[in-house]
Amino acid sequence: MTTFDELKALLASDRSYRRFDASRPIANDTLSRLVELVRFCPSARNLQPLRYRIICSKDECAALFPALKWAGYLTDWDGPEEHERPTAYLIQCLDTRLTTNCLCDDGLQLEAITLGASTLGIHGCIIKAFNAATVSTVSNLPDYYKPLYVLALGYPAETVELTDTDGTMDADIRYYRDENDHHIVPKRPLDELIIG
Ligand SMILES: Cc1cc2nc3c(=O)[nH]c(=O)nc-3n(C[C@H](O)[C@H](O)[C@H](O)COP(=O)(O)O)c2cc1C
Repeated sequence: MTTFDELKALLASDRSYRRFDASRPIANDTLSRLVELVRFCPSARNLQPLRYRIICSKDECAALFPALKWAGYLTDWDGPEEHERPTAYLIQCLDTRLTTNCLCDDGLQLEAITLGASTLGIHGCIIKAFNAATVSTVSNLPDYYKPLYVLALGYPAETVELTDTDGTMDADIRYYRDENDHHIVPKRPLDELIIG
């Protein structure tokens, strides 16, 4: 049985990473095992309308990469260099034949996958800012599969740390790179999250 503290540590380790070791591929079988985790997620009306396309060949990864936008707050960074790029992607798609609204199934499933990946030393970044037409073409998606998110995955080649904001509503929540090139992510403190 997982303890509360173990779960908290796992969540704390489950950060967004954007620089990876491009020489370390992720096996298709590992990615299938990660997708399997979503079977245990709650689903609105238990409809389970989300599907995943696995991208892990070098050629497909290279074709997908230009469709993605990285780290909007890091305005002087153009995204990972070739040797730092993700070695796999999961394209989360909505089967629009089943519904046009998955409510929050998408986020719940992404979290399950990233938590599972963290236990294997694999990390990644949930990406919403992408060119949908390119993603659909590269992924060879029938038009009834609407890509909702791209989850970029790899073995990290950067250090990511959390810091607390100062607890004010207008605190600077933008992530940044510090003098050691560590990626720093400000999080609002507990006091601010609980109303009253
Ligand atoms: C719904 C959603 C969409 C996101 N889209 C992008 C994106 O398009 N590009 C990107 O670089 N990061 C994206 N992110 C990652 C966030 O920037 C990241 O979660 C945030 O900076 C907090 O860092 P953390 O995940 O380590 O807590 C997205 C995250 C979420 C939850």
